[in-house]
Amino acid sequence: MTKPYRIMFVCLGNICRSPMAELLMKDMVKRAGRENEFVIESSATSDENVVDGVGAPVYYHTRTLLESKGISCAGKRAQVLEKAHADKFDFFLCMDGSNVRNATRILGVENAHKIKKLLSYAGESGDVADPWYTRDFERSYSDVKRGLEGLLANLE
Ligand code: 4NP
Repeated sequence: MTKPYRIMFVCLGNICRSPMAELLMKDMVKRAGRENEFVIESSATSDENVVDGVGAPVYYHTRTLLESKGISCAGKRAQVLEKAHADKFDFFLCMDGSNVRNATRILGVENAHKIKKLLSYAGESGDVADPWYTRDFERSYSDVKRGLEGLLANLE
């Protein structure tokens, strides 16, 4: 795998879990002095949060949590995962199993080898908890963080 590692995080709406992963990962690689080794974005499998080409900002409770960790969400807007992303990214790291199925539908089975669940990098088979339903944003953050720590160690 050649650098930069090009990573797209994927969830349903791109307003909670995948922006958390994108913005935390950017913060982690910056702290590690490894910014130049990565291209990092996030996107949604649904188009619910993009209206007339304009993406929604990060969901209020996710933004508040990230800001409490010193991470800004300024400028992040929801975008929809598209087939054209397949050639622009090396990994599509999904928050749950339904994201994997939807991403595979969008990107095509020929790209299935690039599509994984984020928590697999932490040696876990489960999903990042969906805070839209659990309302527990700290739990989702801690799931995302474990996955990212495993991912970063894997990409030394
Ligand atoms: P996300 O969270 O996929 O982590 O961005 C959700 C956002 C919106 C909805 C569900 C999950 N929704 O049903 O509108």
